Amino acid sequence: MKLWSGRFGKETDALVNDFNASIQFDQRLYKEDITGSLAHAKMLAECGVISREDAASITQGLADILADIEAGKIEFTADNEDIHMNVEALLTSRIGDAGKRLHTARSRNDQVALDFRMYVREQIPVIIGQLLELETVLCRQARKYQETVMPGYTHLQRAQPISFAQHLMAYGAMLARDVTRLEDCKKRLNECPLGSGALAGTTYPIDRWQTAKLLGFDAPTSNSLDGVSDRDYALELMGALSILMMHLSRFSEEVILWCSWEFKFIELDDAYATGSSIMPQKKNPDVAELVRGKTGRVYGDLMSLLTTMKGLPLAYNKDMQEDKEPVFDAIDTVEMCVPVFAAMLDTMRVRQDNMRKAAGHGFINATDCADYLTKKGMPFRDAYTAVGHLVAACTKTGKTLEELTLQELQEISPLFGEDVYEALSLETCMGQRKSYGGPAVSETTRQIQEIEGFVKARTK
Ligand code: ARG
Repeated sequence: MKLWSGRFGKETDALVNDFNASIQFDQRLYKEDITGSLAHAKMLAECGVISREDAASITQGLADILADIEAGKIEFTADNEDIHMNVEALLTSRIGDAGKRLHTARSRNDQVALDFRMYVREQIPVIIGQLLELETVLCRQARKYQETVMPGYTHLQRAQPISFAQHLMAYGAMLARDVTRLEDCKKRLNECPLGSGALAGTTYPIDRWQTAKLLGFDAPTSNSLDGVSDRDYALELMGALSILMMHLSRFSEEVILWCSWEFKFIELDDAYATGSSIMPQKKNPDVAELVRGKTGRVYGDLMSLLTTMKGLPLAYNKDMQEDKEPVFDAIDTVEMCVPVFAAMLDTMRVRQDNMRKAAGHGFINATDCADYLTKKGMPFRDAYTAVGHLVAACTKTGKTLEELTLQELQEISPLFGEDVYEALSLETCMGQRKSYGGPAVSETTRQIQEIEGFVKARTK
């Protein structure tokens, strides 16, 4: 028999019963639900809304239910629709009337808003912890490859010399922003919706500040309609996770390219690659491909909830029950991707020889050649044109700039001297880029230290 059967003249249709239920997925919120109820019962007793005896038996009853759920002894039922009514029904069946008093001055609307918020709040540090691990892996790898010259690209065309360390630390910077976005989301969500009631608060003399404090919130939400109908925190979380996945997806794309025979900049450890069922020679970067693939899924989760929310009038609507699955999915996906991605990077083998070889072709020192002339007094635009002619000539003969004789160089400009060869060496070109943020060792060291400090400040 339904909780609301008093008002109804018929049983719920079996199809509706299953259709309406969310227990299949919201049972994940059991701990938050019980934690919220414990705080609510304590507050009700202290405000004199229920007796201390009732509060004590509710507390004991909920503790027992929690233990039984964790021991796998409880079977939830769709007849009780969701986690909130399942727990309440269990409680009442065990402790009788006191259990029926728990829902005084509360609605499932503020209850679910509270549970969901607490769940998101608990998961954020888990994801941040994983990201900090990934940052540590990046720093560890970057420290090894500060002198490793590779081509930097624009338009996927070889552009200018960088180091592998600098390339890795670009992701270090992105992930640090992901961490602070998550921290920011956690700060903003930390207001307690409990006590908003169904939508319009309550006539009972409750103390919302007390429950907020008991549950670790900074304050109660300020408006009861907003309290029950706000899902911004879930959207913010999924927004931050979407951006994070976008970063991992770009990184994955590069890992996939780097593993190809065309690049061969890295080789993945056998434990982090997979083979083919037919082609015996294959070693595929499935982990990176899956991370790239799962990015679409997290974007989908975000779009799903944005779309659910966009036309909803205030305050609670049952549509909002659809908020949980995408959020759970986005969290599960990210929590699966980050550690495996970190392990893959931690164990990769870096082919410095192939990076260096690739850097040697494609005229990535052409800007430096123009800068050489500029430093000798030629205006940069003229130097740029002069080197353009040199590159055009080289592409005909198959030479690199540094393979041109001094005589050939001087035909273009008498400003060229013997010292040009030193200036064109890739090690010089990379090493002299000492501007703040650049690839010179002094600068990548600073970048690595910055991220190491960022991680340290967040880990005990
Ligand atoms: N299972 C519901 C949800 O997840 C709980 C809130 C139900 N409230 C209501 N008035 N039907 O949104």
